Amino acid sequence: MAKYRIAILPGDGIGRDVIDAAMLVLDKLQLDAEYRYGEIGWEFWCKEGNPLPDRTLQLLRETDACLFGAITSKPKEDAEKELDPALRGKGMAYFSPIVRLRQEFDLYVNLRPSKAYPGNPLNYRDNIDLVIFRENTEGMYAGVEFYPLPDKVREALLIHPKMGAFKNVPKEDIALSTRIMTRKGCTRILRRAFEYAREHKRRSVTLVEKPNVLRETGGFFLQLAREMAKEYPEIEFREANIDSMTMWLVKNPQDYDVLVAENLFGDIISDLAGQLVGGLGFACAGNIGDDYAVFEPVHGSAPKYAGQYKVNPTATLLAAKMMLEWLGEAEKARRLENSIAAVIKEGRVRTYDMGGSASTLDMAKAVAERLE
Ligand code: NAI
Ligand code: MG
Repeated sequence: MAKYRIAILPGDGIGRDVIDAAMLVLDKLQLDAEYRYGEIGWEFWCKEGNPLPDRTLQLLRETDACLFGAITSKPKEDAEKELDPALRGKGMAYFSPIVRLRQEFDLYVNLRPSKAYPGNPLNYRDNIDLVIFRENTEGMYAGVEFYPLPDKVREALLIHPKMGAFKNVPKEDIALSTRIMTRKGCTRILRRAFEYAREHKRRSVTLVEKPNVLRETGGFFLQLAREMAKEYPEIEFREANIDSMTMWLVKNPQDYDVLVAENLFGDIISDLAGQLVGGLGFACAGNIGDDYAVFEPVHGSAPKYAGQYKVNPTATLLAAKMMLEWLGEAEKARRLENSIAAVIKEGRVRTYDMGGSASTLDMAKAVAERLE
């Protein structure tokens, strides 16, 4: 029996192109793994009314980790229109399979490394090497939202004096989203960030928040972070406000190292950081829990390029590298990263986004050939 069982979910659109590229490289690496393909995405919404069929969830439960490509999702009205006529009117509602996966497997870390590989013409600047730990299950994306505002909720909120200003706004004229932060949620993302910094000999951990305005949630997170920082005296602990952080990341990105943030703020700085090192062709993410993890490129299904093998597979190759690290295959992860870095540095094989004309598979083959 193989050492690992790995679920492969190509999804649709360019998800399939980039997963083909990743498999070519993983095969060359000869990881002792059995790869099991699963179904996810728009096609299964249309045919079955479920973009993440139960059989796929079952498949994930039987594997050690998952590599995911990309899927298409569309607004509510389109979802209803494209659903198999036999399934319409049964109250089926489209949901995001990725969000569902995060909840189902409690994948509370969204890990977003952003590293400027030398020679990438898309680098905003050299020497950028950021690792973002974004909380993935609560905060502003906890999903507790109201519109129209129920009377009961308004009444409860009126115990806060500032709510008085909204006392008489008609319920159809007011919407509410909550930002929920728990000790458990804050503590475990902080722990992962500090442990990562220690293990990888990183200089600093920066909490990106807004505690001067979001005094209760932001203040709570800050207090927990300061407490934990004491356990890691060798690591500099820094505090930054989300708004000024967007400026600092543009001005001096090389000054930052490990960043930790709540869901919404982490989402924002992750995309900013991704663009500093080449954008969607390079940005990868790990959705990581205690027992399971799903690795993916950040980009979507880019329908206009689907099946053309034109897009940059680097983001997916870097996602595969993260997966190897998470599995404990440090040596293979290092070889893969070195090989990706070498191909970028040489600059002979480049996809269109880097100004070249190489295909998705050309790039993957170049990386596979470079593996030592
Ligand atoms: P997208 O990320 O699919 O593509 C936007 C543009 O970015 C592309 O047209 C292309 O110019 C560029 N791009 C993306 N990936 C690239 C790569 N690997 N190499 C070079 N260039 C690349 O975003 P878009 O067009 O907003 O969404 C398309 C579909 O994907 C939608 O249905 C959306 O809901 C879905 N989506 C899915 C995600 C996922 O599966 N995790 C994430 C984001 C969007
Ligand atoms: Mg995002």
